[in-house]
Parts: sequence; structure tokens; C-alpha cells
Amino acid sequence: MGLITVDESKCARCGLCARACPVGIIALGEGFPTTGFPTTIEKIEKGCITCGHCVATCPNGALNHCRMNPEVCQPLAPGWRLTPAQVGQLIKGRRSIRNYRPEPLDPEVIGQLLDIVRYAPTGMNSQTVSWKVILDEQEVQFLSLAVIEWMRTLDGDQVHGIRGMLKAWEMGRDPVLRKAPALIVAHGAADDPMASASAMIALANLDLAALPFGLGTCWAGFLHQAALSSYEVATALALPSGHRMLGGVMIGYPEFEYTRIPTRNPAQVTWG
Ligand SMILES: Cc1cc2nc3c(=O)[nH]c(=O)nc-3n(C[C@H](O)[C@H](O)[C@H](O)COP(=O)(O)O)c2cc1C
Repeated sequence: MGLITVDESKCARCGLCARACPVGIIALGEGFPTTGFPTTIEKIEKGCITCGHCVATCPNGALNHCRMNPEVCQPLAPGWRLTPAQVGQLIKGRRSIRNYRPEPLDPEVIGQLLDIVRYAPTGMNSQTVSWKVILDEQEVQFLSLAVIEWMRTLDGDQVHGIRGMLKAWEMGRDPVLRKAPALIVAHGAADDPMASASAMIALANLDLAALPFGLGTCWAGFLHQAALSSYEVATALALPSGHRMLGGVMIGYPEFEYTRIPTRNPAQVTWG
């Protein structure tokens, strides 16, 4: 079986599959659009990134990709784009949450969240972002302690904010992971040049996708910095061999809600 097969009884010969293919693998067959049908250019088939655009764009479900047929690709629900006002509220209403209810998270809910987030764009559709989910508050605290131990080795005069964080820790607060009940860490192969950007995008999507679940997140920047700088913190994270932390978020149910949108700087734009 070839890379794509076309059900000729359904194909409207609109050519959308060829236009949507990002790597130009689909040609429109001799005689198109009167007699020919879409076909692949065999010599460059290997370049297919399995993005599924050819299947997803076909209005008649006529195109089968050998790794993805139309039946496994859910139809989009009407109104899926939402309105600018709805999306604006979601993006503007999201806040970094640093106060969590001490409530354990249901792994099923986190599974649902990550199942949405796996659709975030990845470089060349590589889908190489992996996740480590820590649902044990004590384990999260253990990581905060590892970061604090690393901070103690730094020069407090040179690293902004460290003195205050160490002081807060001594006073029983957790300025690193904010006593979050859970932590989600994105990781990937240390030698994958696109992994970092893909993970950042996935995490930014996760930040927003968590909101309809009633969850709040906060980026774990200090943990990330420590994981890349300290052998002890990286070891405490226990990621698979050859992987490094690409980013992470604390996650949990917010202890309180925000009722207003704080202001932000205007977008700095140069119109060319
Ligand atoms: C890359 C990155 C790392 C961050 N790291 C931390 C962190 O370690 N601890 C923390 O409390 N907030 C962290 N934040 C949250 C920022 O402080 C927060 O986004 C900013 O103050 C704006 O607030 P808002 O997210 O509520 O709009 C981080 C944000 C980003 C984008």
C-alpha cells in the first residue's frame, strides 16, 4: 500500500490535499482535475512528516494516509474557534497561581489535560515532548528543597532574589514550587535541537488548557534553571537517561480566584 490512497468515488478533485501538504509530496496526477486524482511523488515520500493535513483538509473523507485514515480523525465541532472575546478572556484571565488548595489531583484529569496538549505544534511534527507528572506533594517539596540546596551554593550578591528566597524558605514558605500539590515537567532528548521550543509551546498550551478544568498553573522557572545547572537537582528529578528538563509547571486547584485583569505593556510592534 502506498503512502496515500484515494477513494475515487468520494474525491472531488479539489486539490486541497496537495495545497495543504507542507512538504509538497502530493501531486495532482495526470489529467487532473478532469481525469487524474491526487497521488504522491514517490521519490520524496520519505519526507512525509505524518502531520495528517492531507486527511484533515479533505472535505469528503476521500484521502487515506497509510498511518492515518479519515475515520480516526475526529470531525471538528461547529464553533470550535470560539470568539475573539472568549479567547481574549481566557488568555487575559489566566494568572500564575502560587496559592493552592491542599487537594490531591486526579491522575485521570491530568491525563485528559495532557491528551489535549499533545496537539500543540511541534517542530517537523516530531511530537517528542515527554512528560513527568508528580502528584505527590511530598515529592514536590523534596524538589523544592533540592533547588534551595542549590541556591545555597550560589553567590547571593550576584543572583537576584536568592537571599529573599532562602529567607522565605527558612520561614517555612516555599518560594520555589509554592507548596503545589503537583508538578508537571516537560522533558526531551538533550540532543534534540527542536525539543525546547516544542516543549515551551506545549507548556503554554497546557497553561490555558488547565483553566476549563478549574486548575491553575505557575511556570517552574527556578526548578528549570536548577535542573540545568545542578547535578543534584537533575538527579532528584530522575528523568530518563539522555533527557533534560525543558520546562515545567506547578499545578493545582487555586485557593482563591482573581476578579480583574491586571494591565500589561502595550504590544511592542514595528510595522514593516
Ligand atoms: C519562563 C517563565 C518562568 C517562570 N518561573 C516562575 C517561577 O519559578 N516562580 C514563580 O512564582 N513564577 C514564575 N513565572 C511566572 C511569572 O512570574 C509570571 O508569568 C509573571 O509575573 C506574570 O504574571 P501572570 O502569569 O499572572 O500574568 C515564570 C514565568 C515564565 C514565563
